[in-house]
Amino acid sequence: MTTPPFSAVNWDNLRHENVGAGLPSAFLDGAEQQLRRVHQALHAKVSSGELPFLALHDDRQTVDEIVQFAREVHESGDFDDCVILGIGGSSLGSKALVDALGAPRLRMHFCDNVDPDKLAHIQTALDWNRTLFVAITKSGSTVETIAQTLWVRQRLRALYSVDEARRRLIAVTDPQDGFLRELATQEGFTSFSVPPNVGGRYSVFTPVGLLPAALAGIDIKRIMKGMSWAVSTLRSADPTENSALAVAGALAHLSTHDGRAVLATVPYRNCLESCARWFAQLWAESLGKDGHGSTPVTAVGSTVQHSQLQLWMDGPPNTVVQFIDVQEFDHDITVDTAEFPQWSLVNGLSLGQILRSQLQATTQALRDAKRPNLTWTLPAVTPESVAAWMVCMEAITAYAGGVLNVNPFDQPGVEATKTIARQLLTQGARSTEN
Ligand code: PA5
Repeated sequence: MTTPPFSAVNWDNLRHENVGAGLPSAFLDGAEQQLRRVHQALHAKVSSGELPFLALHDDRQTVDEIVQFAREVHESGDFDDCVILGIGGSSLGSKALVDALGAPRLRMHFCDNVDPDKLAHIQTALDWNRTLFVAITKSGSTVETIAQTLWVRQRLRALYSVDEARRRLIAVTDPQDGFLRELATQEGFTSFSVPPNVGGRYSVFTPVGLLPAALAGIDIKRIMKGMSWAVSTLRSADPTENSALAVAGALAHLSTHDGRAVLATVPYRNCLESCARWFAQLWAESLGKDGHGSTPVTAVGSTVQHSQLQLWMDGPPNTVVQFIDVQEFDHDITVDTAEFPQWSLVNGLSLGQILRSQLQATTQALRDAKRPNLTWTLPAVTPESVAAWMVCMEAITAYAGGVLNVNPFDQPGVEATKTIARQLLTQGARSTEN
């Protein structure tokens, strides 16, 4: 790949010497040894296969199988809509890819909840004759996803022959364990496997994210190119060469030693809002342990300037804001204010230029208000750039876990809730009907 999918992150505005708050100037000198150790520990586990989430670009076979399957679905001409049945890490990544990159082939719908009104909408608004369903659950046993899946299966069984019903429901789950795997094997659904040692929120580059993306019509080989490029930027254990490592150290330091309990992610593109939401889950569920972590907030610029920005600038000094700037737009709409000389400031400018100026104004205003912030710049929203950004976010999260000394790959709080919910359902959630 000749052009990098994004320029290095600019984190000048996290430093005390530039902002008057934030990281002390000698921060990297003090943190370097620890960051090197964190890097070494993580990448040793990636290389040994214990944590393959940063090596998934090497799995060409899975990518080829998904591309082939998606091609067959498209060429069949049988489907217009595709419904993803999944929640959390089994939904947010694919939604981020689809919302960012569009769905030129199938219209994609994400249930992401068991809200009956949403499912009723799926039932009535879609033509089930032309709808494909994909059930995604890493564990194969998440109550919300299984409930949705069994509802869909039952409905398909009522509408079609066994063979036809089977053709319309695809499974993505553990290769061996869990109820969905059992069901897929028993009923002969087409299925894809999630590598067992890739956790839900780190699984966007497995069939969990790639199958919906390919069905939507996104070129997943370009996604994997972006991943490959981003992984190559993570090789160095020197934080002056590996900016993801430096930013991880910086964010961990700011949350632990500088009271920055909130991390806001603000793309200045609407289509990237779901990427920010995907990151929020990754960050919160990975690091919110032992009293550590910072609360992720998601917003979109410039809209946020007219809602939360006031708080970030002049409220409690507890927030770091990370922006995503995109240099190119798919559409160029120009403003003509010739009739209104008082608006000559925007005359002849494209809306994209105006949007990027708003971002510049916001970073400058935050800096003037001594509020730390950083900016990722993408040349354009492409499969490569979005994937590369996501890889960096995964790496930053995992590195930050090392710095904070928490395990970024488990989720005991989530599991505890799943257990309580199961108990309640078993014991008689029916009694909550009143
Ligand atoms: O990141 C995680 O592990 C979780 O958020 C899971 O993705 C979420 O709980 C859904 O689990 P599953 O994919 O097993 O249905």
